[in-house]
Amino acid sequence: HLETEANKDSTVTADYGKSTSWGDDDPSVFAVTRVTGLQGEYQICNGYGTAKAKPILKNHWSTYIVEDDFRFISESGLTAVRIPVGWWIASDPSPPAPYVGGSLQTLDKAFKWAEEYNLGVIIDLHAAPGSQNPFEHSASKDGSQDWGTSAANIAQTVQVIDFLASRYAASPSLLAVELLNEPLAPGASLESLKTYYQDGYNAVRKHSSEAYVIMSNRLSSPDPTELLEFAGGLPRAVIDVHYYVLFNSMFDTFTVQQNINFIKTNYSSALSTVTKQDGPLTFVGEWVAEWQVPNATKEELQMFANAQMDVYGKATFGWAYWTLKNVNNHWSMEWMIKNGYISLKN
Ligand SMILES: *[C@@H]1O[C@H](CO)[C@@H](O)[C@H](O)[C@H]1NC(C)=O
Ligand SMILES: *[C@@H]1O[C@H](CO)[C@@H](O)[C@H](O)[C@H]1NC(C)=O
Repeated sequence: HLETEANKDSTVTADYGKSTSWGDDDPSVFAVTRVTGLQGEYQICNGYGTAKAKPILKNHWSTYIVEDDFRFISESGLTAVRIPVGWWIASDPSPPAPYVGGSLQTLDKAFKWAEEYNLGVIIDLHAAPGSQNPFEHSASKDGSQDWGTSAANIAQTVQVIDFLASRYAASPSLLAVELLNEPLAPGASLESLKTYYQDGYNAVRKHSSEAYVIMSNRLSSPDPTELLEFAGGLPRAVIDVHYYVLFNSMFDTFTVQQNINFIKTNYSSALSTVTKQDGPLTFVGEWVAEWQVPNATKEELQMFANAQMDVYGKATFGWAYWTLKNVNNHWSMEWMIKNGYISLKN
């Protein structure tokens, strides 16, 4: 039983319970380098321990997004939901420690509701084994990024895609499978990514000739067009790009107009660069009407959201807002719609 004081407010424990090799791949051995409170599913499960994590996640899964949300999405004029999943969903109900089972049933329910309300589902592999970026949302155990560094790791990820495509191929709501969210360069090399995208694409095609296959551009790539030729050769392939005016200190002092200009000029041109006549379809798979402007008015936020929808509306596969619900109002599309900040029907 290991216990690490991560900071004043949180404790991370490792309760693996079996004998340990004390190797880097041992889930009971990790150095916590980025914890500010428990973040990401690995740290939540590991921090609570399996016994406590199970009811906490079950409660979250059964209360946070419910059937009413699918009705709301449909009535709002949206046509699809992008649902992030972790690689351990493929070994539900008994995933490897520290993860807990139950996410697969939750995805099953989402498909049922999507079918009921005539919505498409984009299954988005948001966390791959080893983590394709060091952030909490890829379930990195400690800020490390090891995805794609071996053939076995890539093969394991393809298995997850095969499992998901096989399970949902018959659903009329299966719109797309996104093979991997936000792999980060240079840790995720272009070579391993192309190998994986080809094998993942084939795994989806084994089960469905209709489903779109979405391939995320690499974060921090020196060349946003690096996947176009490859993906352009694959029927119903889609390139995913994410646009935020956050996560870069350049935006810290931007005014309302500077943010809007950046969308209309820089992101518009970035999107044109990847949207080619004979190339893959394009998808702005994440954006949000949040910025670094303090105390913006409702009108300013409406202008900002509209500018983004105008520009991202040129993506040939569409766009998705991050996210549907959030404690921070601007990050919650539901709140933005219900309070008149975002309007889809005009
Ligand atoms: C944004 O676009 C403008 C106009 O083309 C250009 O001058 C500027 O360098 C771009 N900014 C970035 C960060 O690329
Ligand atoms: C924003 O509003 C808060 C609370 O009303 C206020 O304390 C703060 O000074 C404002 N900031 C700016 C930059 O106007």
